[in-house]
Amino acid sequence: MTEIKYAKSPLLNMSSITLFYDDAATKLDLERAQISFIKKELEATKDLILLQELNVLHYYIPVKREALTGDASEKLRRIGNRILGQLNAMRLTEVVINSEVPDGAYSLLVAEGMALGNYQFLKYFKNKTAKKNSFSRVHIHDAKVKPTDVAELNHVVGATLLARTLINEPHSYLTATQFAKEMQKAGKEAGFNVKVMNKKEIETKKMGGLLAVNMGSLEPPTFTVMEYRHDKPKNKKPIVLVGKGVVFDTGGLSLKPTPGSMDEMKCDMSGGAAVVGAMHAIAANQLPVHVIGIVPATDNRPGMNAVCPQDIITISDGTTVEVLNTDAEGRLILADALVWAKQYKPELCIDLATLTGAAIRAIGTYASAVMGTAEQQVMDALMESGVNVWERTIQFPMWPEYGDEMKSDIADLKNLGGAYAGHISAGKFLEHFTDYPWIHIDIAGPAYSNSASDYRTKGGVGVGVRLLYDFIKRRYSN
Ligand code: BES
Ligand code: MN
Ligand code: ZN
Repeated sequence: MTEIKYAKSPLLNMSSITLFYDDAATKLDLERAQISFIKKELEATKDLILLQELNVLHYYIPVKREALTGDASEKLRRIGNRILGQLNAMRLTEVVINSEVPDGAYSLLVAEGMALGNYQFLKYFKNKTAKKNSFSRVHIHDAKVKPTDVAELNHVVGATLLARTLINEPHSYLTATQFAKEMQKAGKEAGFNVKVMNKKEIETKKMGGLLAVNMGSLEPPTFTVMEYRHDKPKNKKPIVLVGKGVVFDTGGLSLKPTPGSMDEMKCDMSGGAAVVGAMHAIAANQLPVHVIGIVPATDNRPGMNAVCPQDIITISDGTTVEVLNTDAEGRLILADALVWAKQYKPELCIDLATLTGAAIRAIGTYASAVMGTAEQQVMDALMESGVNVWERTIQFPMWPEYGDEMKSDIADLKNLGGAYAGHISAGKFLEHFTDYPWIHIDIAGPAYSNSASDYRTKGGVGVGVRLLYDFIKRRYSN
């Protein structure tokens, strides 16, 4: 992992990155010829300028004298990642960021892009050292940045990368049982409580959704509850985070038609990974809040005893569901989790799930589909966080007609809606199991990527961790 370090001194002989206002090039501590070179580059609208001395690189990033917007922040992360690529190509190991601008956020954003972009998942290579990036440390030398800001960023990046690793782990390692163990490990590291229910307890609690999805599997399900409570939380009632933890989704008896649609389905626990990551970041940074994380986990398989289309199952609150398509499994396990959340009388519940292909068809991979029953200003605050951290969200309506599609003529609900807007009918299905302000985030689009884009490395993206952290932090600041 990349270490982000607070630097008291300027570390003069090291490769560097300097942030400066684009109208203040003359104030840089450089020779005249270098300054005129920088000015020429600025005229050519370069967003990154390099002064190179053999194998010591000095980068200059011009920034505008304006309030830092979401897109400007994202540009800085991406520039950080571009620099990272060049440093790795030259087998360099560290860099120091200096800043001439009066706001510490700029340096932190560049470091964030570098640390996120430098992630690698090498566990399964025989020769890991040959593959390992050289770059390992970014120093921040910036009077406006506090050591605590650096510590916070390290925790948030670390939590995002933890989520990526959990997603990248194949089902051959990450069974539901192993996933629960990983959550316990995260709890020990970051300082939150973790309680894992095994199959027996899940049966006692009559979680018929989770048990039904698990019926075709050789591996038992788990139901994990994480809790972090600050000594003096600002919220009286907890925030509850729920994450879909389908460790592999074959579709069950309604088998996914390979090749193609099944090939990336180890990512179907990305919602659960986001919840663990968010819990990790919140606890490690000791945000003054009370948060509970719930992750129901199982694989979805067509084994001998698998749930059949037209079977009727009973969720833990007594709601009966006609299972018409066993590939619509996420909503079944989430139903039990949302019912479980009721006992906490949450101030707000947010679930994250790689729930529907319809969400991807609606908005592609650049954003998550959001809907829910929380007040509009809460939905707006989440959308704002999405722009801040560049994990954008877009809100969809929850009109009753979409819910009508989920009515069964033989049970209370069915798990399959109409042909269109399947992400919304799935959301309406989930809504049935809530009695508190609630937001559903369908992350099927951005959760997993088969090619790197900027600092979002190939594979698990860890989407949701930075989003939830920013949202919860801002909700309870001042
Ligand atoms: N895990 C999938 C959704 C998904 C698809 C996530 C692509 C990531 C990428 C989910 O369990 C699923 O199979 N949904 C079905 C629901 C349908 C049968 C109602 C879908 O969207 O096709
Ligand atoms: Mn499915
Ligand atoms: Zn699924």
